[in-house]
Amino acid sequence: MTDSALFCLCRAGFEPELAAELSERAALAGHHGYARTQRNSGYVEFIVEDAAAASQALPWSNLIFARQKLVRLADLRGLDPSDRIAPILGALDALGAPEAFGELWVEHPDSDDGKPLAGLARSFGNALRPALRKAGWLSKLDDPRRPRLHVVFLAGDHAVLAQADPDDSAPWPLGIPRLKMHPDAPSRSALKLEEALLTLLDPDERARRVRDNMQAADLGAAPGGWTWVLMRNGMKVTSVDNGPLRQALLDSGRVDHLRADGFSWQPKRTLDWMVCDMVESPARVAERMATWFRENWCRQAIFNLKLPMKKRWDETRVCLEAFEYQTHRPMIVRARQLYHDREEITVFAAPR
Ligand SMILES: C[S@@+](CC[C@H](N)C(=O)[O-])C[C@H]1O[C@@H](n2cnc3c(N)ncnc32)[C@H](O)[C@@H]1O
Repeated sequence: MTDSALFCLCRAGFEPELAAELSERAALAGHHGYARTQRNSGYVEFIVEDAAAASQALPWSNLIFARQKLVRLADLRGLDPSDRIAPILGALDALGAPEAFGELWVEHPDSDDGKPLAGLARSFGNALRPALRKAGWLSKLDDPRRPRLHVVFLAGDHAVLAQADPDDSAPWPLGIPRLKMHPDAPSRSALKLEEALLTLLDPDERARRVRDNMQAADLGAAPGGWTWVLMRNGMKVTSVDNGPLRQALLDSGRVDHLRADGFSWQPKRTLDWMVCDMVESPARVAERMATWFRENWCRQAIFNLKLPMKKRWDETRVCLEAFEYQTHRPMIVRARQLYHDREEITVFAAPR
């Protein structure tokens, strides 16, 4: 029998951070369990007595290091490559799930061992879907409101069967939003801010908070990827950096380039947005970001915290707590390690 567990995907190499986050947050919510993982595997299992209840206590949108959060249904090892379907149907029958699933996603971890399984995942999904429909385990037409069935291949003969609540999980396979780099974007970093706006704000908030003619500052702006995203969203931007900005930004007439220190520059009046991608210690950035809110220099912000090599979960928690405390006001704080982030996390913050 498979232990009750959450099954979460993450960036390869960040398993210890996700394991620590799940263990600590679950314990605080009264769900004591333990994490099992392997370095660079791209996933963490969190073994806990009541995985469904623990899952509810740990909303996906609050988790920083989980790209996807699933409740494991079965751990299927030793699968016979000539028939992987029968064991899956057998496992579902044994569980006696109460209703058909709305969609099937067949996936693999985003890791060196997982990526070669992409072809198998695709072809197996095409074979499994009709079999599930015939057996009554999958609705005839995709129904994104019902629980989603996931099959995650960890090896050719090893798959995890799991389910997700569509309202409490990443809406993208593998938990990865696919964004295309725009040919005019000055740097790949532009994708980070695009992903942050997409994942840290919901559609209503995006419509309300990201509007034409808003005033923004970009601290650590060069060569200008984030400035470009703000400008494309109709904003006027003050870009602070000693490094050079792409000429096209300066030619737009919507960007002012200030060669100044992002840790001492302050605006003359309250701005709609401040974004910050300065490469500095996360504690120093968090402190400066808090000052912006305490002094009411901006209404909302997106900033990156570059994580150190060690104790990255501890540093994340300490920096976010210090940031919130130093703002001296109740704040909305959402943090996430984005797909386009590297050794860093991205934070959205605004006063409540
Ligand atoms: C990761 S890059 C920013 C990339 C940018 N977000 C983009 O999309 O193109 C970090 C930038 O921070 C700038 N920086 C670091 N410390 C700074 C400081 N104290 N004041 C202003 N800029 C700083 C660096 O010059 C560098 O251009």
